[in-house]
Amino acid sequence: MTKKQQTVVITGGNSGIGYATAEEFLGRGYRVLITGRNPAAIQEAVHQLGFPAEGFMADQRSLEDTQRLAEYIRSRYGKIDVLIINAGVGKFGPFEATTEELFDEVMDINFKGAFFTTQQLLPLMNEGASIVFLSSSNAEGGMPGAAVHSASKAAINSLARTLSRELAPKGIRVNAIVPGPVDTPILQKAGLGEDALAHMAGRIPLGRVAVPAEIAKLAGFITSQDAAFITGAAINIDGGFAVHPLAG
Ligand SMILES: NC(=O)c1ccc[n+]([C@@H]2O[C@H](COP(=O)([O-])OP(=O)(O)OC[C@H]3O[C@@H](n4cnc5c(N)ncnc54)[C@H](OP(=O)(O)O)[C@@H]3O)[C@@H](O)[C@H]2O)c1
Repeated sequence: MTKKQQTVVITGGNSGIGYATAEEFLGRGYRVLITGRNPAAIQEAVHQLGFPAEGFMADQRSLEDTQRLAEYIRSRYGKIDVLIINAGVGKFGPFEATTEELFDEVMDINFKGAFFTTQQLLPLMNEGASIVFLSSSNAEGGMPGAAVHSASKAAINSLARTLSRELAPKGIRVNAIVPGPVDTPILQKAGLGEDALAHMAGRIPLGRVAVPAEIAKLAGFITSQDAAFITGAAINIDGGFAVHPLAG
């Protein structure tokens, strides 16, 4: 009997880690649906990824878009097997200068949007399905200027832990991937140039930042049958960045 083709939904799949993850799952034989806010960027990514990748315009900040996304998935695919909650922004600034607008934007995309996207898509998940949240080493790092961003990612870690227990009876595994710095467009969007990248690399025991494909491979593994007993984990993938610098 031939195995039924599996389906993965990747939010924010037109760039960086999400795009590399789409490539990884295509390589693993999945049908891939990516989302994003920018129709031209989604179209270009789908074109580059090739069949059977598809795209859908949905702002993770908008509950209305999330409901449209759920409806589309229901009619187009029926059920899904893997959900990668990857869409996110990296916006930083001193605590005293943090406005309510910045606070709402970061929390609404990185946490509230992640929360309700998962809630809306949960009824569409097959038994034995897997959910992965893209967290960040900032969740625990205490990096100055990252108060809101770090809190949004700490909230993601907490959500992943809670859902790992709440969804276990449905046979759904839930994990968080916790990258350190990864060379993607998010760094330029945050105003960080080559100097900042080199500075970060200097603070990483393995001496470099990650490339997106390394994060994608972990997403591929953690959602596979080879990881069938892993749930509720927050897995660092950071070249040792999270290890305390005074530890040795
Ligand atoms: N790169 C790093 O150093 C690093 C480290 C730790 C964690 N992460 C996390 O990894 C995830 C992916 O980041 P990346 O580095 O790959 O950045 P990226 O290249 O900027 O990709 C971010 C993706 O999220 C999408 N996105 C942003 N806001 C969205 C929204 N409201 N609705 C739908 N899509 C949205 C973007 O698409 P549009 O802007 O076109 O909508 C883009 O596809 C993020 O959650 C990030 O926090 C990254």
